[in-house]
Amino acid sequence: MSVRTTFFLIILFVTLASLSCTAEDQAEKAEAPRVHPHFDISQAELEAIIADQEEDIQRAVLQRPQYFLELLHRALDLPPWALVLVDKEHGLPPDYSPRDLVELNEYRLSLNRESLQLSRACMPAVLAMTEAARSDGVELVYSSTYRSYDYQQGLYESYVQRYGRQEADRFSARPGTSQHQLGTSIDFGSITPEFGDTEAGRWLLENAWKYGFSLSYPEGYEELTGYMFEIWHYRYITTVGTRLEREFFQGIQQHLTEFWHRHRDFFAERSVNEEQNDEETPNRVGI
Ligand code: DAL
Ligand code: ZN
Repeated sequence: MSVRTTFFLIILFVTLASLSCTAEDQAEKAEAPRVHPHFDISQAELEAIIADQEEDIQRAVLQRPQYFLELLHRALDLPPWALVLVDKEHGLPPDYSPRDLVELNEYRLSLNRESLQLSRACMPAVLAMTEAARSDGVELVYSSTYRSYDYQQGLYESYVQRYGRQEADRFSARPGTSQHQLGTSIDFGSITPEFGDTEAGRWLLENAWKYGFSLSYPEGYEELTGYMFEIWHYRYITTVGTRLEREFFQGIQQHLTEFWHRHRDFFAERSVNEEQNDEETPNRVGI
């Protein structure tokens, strides 16, 4: 066999081998069913992403992976404030304040003090929830809402003076780390544990999620959230958020926002560009 023929045979062999590999890869890919049309994610990849979650969370996701991804698909469309992780380790810039603050005294709401403000983005949910509570004979009282970085600084320092830093850190956020700076968090009623024994406290616990409000610091989770049980503090995370929280993250906001903090970019990268796909559908061209 001449050198030229040998060389030719080697090239032919390598080409055929690579072609067969590609064909095998494709067959494998075609066999792996898609979990959801809006994501380029296989079941195995989804399992890998949730592998570090608690067993209950993994089980819930693997029982309904398509619903999970459907909600994540909608979560990707939410504005950043909705699910952003705001806790002791993840703060907001000092100059962050929502650009759409509205005065609560312009609405038919029961207020515990003057000059309360909230982001306009959560007002439809606030009003719908207040109305629903009223029709159940319960009046929600708004006691603390948006707090600027500077206001939180004064508040936190006053608690430090009164109770010492270690104790204050258990119930008051240092400036820049309060969910109240988002303009979407609300303290209701007396802002004391007794609020849990009131009609309003019980009503919120049962119904707030339906309007997109989530209890940020639930009982028994001080180690996880960094704060004592606050039966009065709710954050608006939208109904996409509260469904994710309830159905997949054990009803614990911190689990959801930590997950989103870690994995949002992955889901965004694997999100299928629908506009491109739409252009390829015959409907757009032919009908
Ligand atoms: N009481 C909550 C933790 C805050 O100060 O934002
Ligand atoms: Zn609060």
